[in-house]
Amino acid sequence: MNKKTFSAVDRYYEDLLLGEEYEFKQINLAAEKAGLPAIQVSPLQGKFLQLMVRAQGSRRVLEIGTLGGYSTAWLASGLGQGGLLLTLEIDPHHAEVAEKNLAQFDFEGEVQILVGDAQQLIDEMLLAGTEPFDLIFIDADKEGYADYLNRVVKLSRPGTLIIADNVVRNGKILETDSRDPSVLGIQRFNQELVGNPRLTAATLQTVGARGYDGFTFIIVK
Ligand code: SAH
Ligand code: DHB
Ligand code: MG
Repeated sequence: MNKKTFSAVDRYYEDLLLGEEYEFKQINLAAEKAGLPAIQVSPLQGKFLQLMVRAQGSRRVLEIGTLGGYSTAWLASGLGQGGLLLTLEIDPHHAEVAEKNLAQFDFEGEVQILVGDAQQLIDEMLLAGTEPFDLIFIDADKEGYADYLNRVVKLSRPGTLIIADNVVRNGKILETDSRDPSVLGIQRFNQELVGNPRLTAATLQTVGARGYDGFTFIIVK
């Protein structure tokens, strides 16, 4: 099995399972034109996020790391009327591209992009007594994951689903002598996760057009 097969199988299931949501690919075209890095979730991973929003019956979703709004669009498409998605982005250019991209869609719920450092934005939400979220997608700088986890637990209720992207990084997560800040960040995240008795989790490795990586799914008890 090789990368070519993984990509071909991704294509097969994209063609089989993705309907009109496939129009979200316009977001990636616009993001590429604007010079953003192509590090968004894959189409099927996006659909999976949408299904998770629906499975949770989510009314409130928080995303950390917007980029061009690709995963945002998938998450938003899982919300019903009255639903709210807040997505946090530090780079004003990314946020601007995402804003334009998301304006092309007529989601049932409301989408708000908050521009700034996610740690600060979350602290502001905590101070403001923001209502808990039903689903939280962590996908910004990997160095921040451990702190994001600690903070968002405080924006959760029992049953909140927290999903963390990029927890495998081509298997680099196993390197005990890594100096890669992203790998160290995920390792610290894992320590926080297992050290928190309120959290229970499972990790799924993923292959496909996006390479070899993984998601960790966490439920707040
Ligand atoms: N979720 C997106 C991909 C996000 S890429 C998708 O799948 O479509 C990671 C994003 O996190 C980048 O846009 C980056 O600018 C942003 N980011 C990095 N550090 C951040 C921080 N401290 N606060 C908020 N966003 C941050
Ligand atoms: C990369 C991939 C991601 O999904 C992400 O959120 C950040 C970085 C990467 O491949 O570098
Ligand atoms: Mg990611």
